[in-house]
Amino acid sequence: MIEIPTPDDWHVHLRADEMLEAVVGYSARRFRYALVMPNLRPPITTTSAAIDYRDRIMGVAPRDTGFHPIMALYLTPEVSLDDLRRGADEGIVAGVKYYPAGATTNSDGGGSSLSDFRGLLEGMAEAGVRLLVHAEATDPSLDIFDREAAFLEHELAPLCAAVPELRVTVEHVSTRAGVEFVGAHPRTAATITPHHLARQRTDLLADGMRPDLFCKPVINSADDRDALIEAATGGVGPFCLGTDSAPHPTTAKYGPRAAAGIFNAAYGLEVVAEVFHQAGRLDRMGAFVSGNGCAAYGVETPETTLTLTREPVEVERDTQLETEAGDQVVLFGAEEAARWTIS
Ligand code: NCD
Ligand code: ZN
Repeated sequence: MIEIPTPDDWHVHLRADEMLEAVVGYSARRFRYALVMPNLRPPITTTSAAIDYRDRIMGVAPRDTGFHPIMALYLTPEVSLDDLRRGADEGIVAGVKYYPAGATTNSDGGGSSLSDFRGLLEGMAEAGVRLLVHAEATDPSLDIFDREAAFLEHELAPLCAAVPELRVTVEHVSTRAGVEFVGAHPRTAATITPHHLARQRTDLLADGMRPDLFCKPVINSADDRDALIEAATGGVGPFCLGTDSAPHPTTAKYGPRAAAGIFNAAYGLEVVAEVFHQAGRLDRMGAFVSGNGCAAYGVETPETTLTLTREPVEVERDTQLETEAGDQVVLFGAEEAARWTIS
């Protein structure tokens, strides 16, 4: 048994409408702060749209949980520094998310280069607003498994050199190269997902192709996963939990072109607990799911806790949810959840 501070989720997709209604409770019952991604259609690019979205989330979230969504704006030419400052000052907006156009789900409104936003990024550095990056190059000639390293080298490294005060989160870091990049750049932090910690590309491809394990960035090699485990279990440092929980209906996952995204809000914590247990580092789980993120995002540590117990006998868990619209979503991590009880 282990007691941990109530975790925060520094990267989550809550969606809208019936999907939002179906998934928000999973996040609200487990997490305190949740940094909500802005890749809706249309994307969230202003503080007023972020407030409206946050109100919609709170309107359908279960009551009395202490759940506190914080919003991110989607980096497009529409984002204005004055508006952003207001959102940040009021504690509504915690960052601006850069999506390379075409890299992932709902990224078509994204950019072709970070250098196109230099003026705004300099303003953000001054105002202390974080840049959140989906770090994947989109050059079609690049191997899919090399795209994170390529983005970091050709896009983010020059930005860090040119605007050294800018705070950056490398989202869902998925490679050893990504971990090393963050270690070498003092103003950067990184989120790590449960699925990148617990799976590797052989799981995705070897025993029948698994759309339920398909996400962006694609789960990479066993060596990359080992580097992520070392970073996450390190105890201190700029690595924190961002589930990247990203629900898609089975109709979009199990077609000819699987949508990218894994829904792990239900069992992500159990998956992380199992990884830390297997690494013999359960004592450091609190730092990863709470302390490191609080330090990076400048929020107070929580006063409440969760208790995790590894059960001697496996308990069967639900493997999917259904929305009011009749869509099904697969729940990632039911195997790990069978071994853990969280209260
Ligand atoms: C996310 C989604 O579905 O919105 N998908 C994913 O594979 N991670 C977008 C993202 O964070 O890349
Ligand atoms: Zn995401």
